[in-house]
Amino acid sequence: MTATSFTPTLPAQTVEREAHEAGRKPGRRTVEVVGASMLSHGIFRLVIRDPYVARHASPAQFVNLYPHDARMMLPRPFGVAGVDGDDVTLIYQIVGHGTEEFSTLEAGDAIDALGPLGKPFDLGKPANYVLVGGGLGVPPLLYAAQTLCRRDDARVTSVFGYRDERFADELVRGYVNAAHSITNAEGNVVDLLNDIEDELKVAAQPPVILSCGPTPMMRAVAAWASKRGIPAQLSLEARMGCGYGACVACVVDTPSGRLKVCKDGPVFTTEQLGWAA
Ligand SMILES: Cc1cc2nc3c(=O)[nH]c(=O)nc-3n(C[C@H](O)[C@H](O)[C@H](O)COP(=O)(O)OP(=O)(O)OC[C@H]3O[C@@H](n4cnc5c(N)ncnc54)[C@H](O)[C@@H]3O)c2cc1C
Ligand code: FES
Repeated sequence: MTATSFTPTLPAQTVEREAHEAGRKPGRRTVEVVGASMLSHGIFRLVIRDPYVARHASPAQFVNLYPHDARMMLPRPFGVAGVDGDDVTLIYQIVGHGTEEFSTLEAGDAIDALGPLGKPFDLGKPANYVLVGGGLGVPPLLYAAQTLCRRDDARVTSVFGYRDERFADELVRGYVNAAHSITNAEGNVVDLLNDIEDELKVAAQPPVILSCGPTPMMRAVAAWASKRGIPAQLSLEARMGCGYGACVACVVDTPSGRLKVCKDGPVFTTEQLGWAA
């Protein structure tokens, strides 16, 4: 699709250079689409060339994409699913008008982007990181796996739950020590965690859970982890407006008050959310 129905902002590298010189993070800029393909039915992979996001994004941070259709004012947030040189991969499902528009993008098109936004997973500890993803919560965990696989002090186990098609199993396999997955017809990720519990105990490093997916799934994962004394970091989804803390569209009630998913999160601990069993 050729970008005709909107006025592009400045090209990414100009915005990045000007922001860097002024000691700021770059704002919204126009980036090039360098790859677009369908991974499985209704699920797409989009690769954008954005050297700033590629250099600075950490797992669970997200990028706001702006639809060309001027009737859709708000950007759509997507977790970074991988980085390769200057290229950033996003994986998304078509759910409404914005994602439907993105599914028509082709290599060579332009799109406006802003990021990386939000607070990433804390990957500071040597650990057996257990990546528990559900549905379109899986993409940010792919980037966590890609990041962690370079470390000597981290083991990585993926536990992915799919509605039906296992769209990310092949993508994660190269980055993890053990990959497990389940479809809705077979059970859920907590069933899978029960199955592999003994395997987690024998690993040399203590487990740390990183999770992203539907809220009921993450509540169940948080309860499972807290019963066993396993720390969990949960990346929440919320309806967003701005994506950077200005509009208060994304607040979540927690024991320590109302927090903004876009700025205080999307990553929160079980304790912050009051989700312990
Ligand atoms: C931090 C974060 C990371 C995300 N990462 C991914 C990802 O990697 N892959 C993926 O497929 N989806 C992801 N989502 C969900 C994705 O942003 C929505 O599916 C998308 O915005 C829907 O846009 P739409 O125009 O197609 O739908 P519409 O229903 O037309 O959207 C209308 C409005 O609601 C917002 N909205 C709708 N659904 C959601 C939702 N589930 N979460 C947040 N906002 C929503 C849109 O941003 C838009 O402002 C993420 C959401 C958040 C908050
Ligand atoms: S989306 Fe605007 S404050 Fe979070």
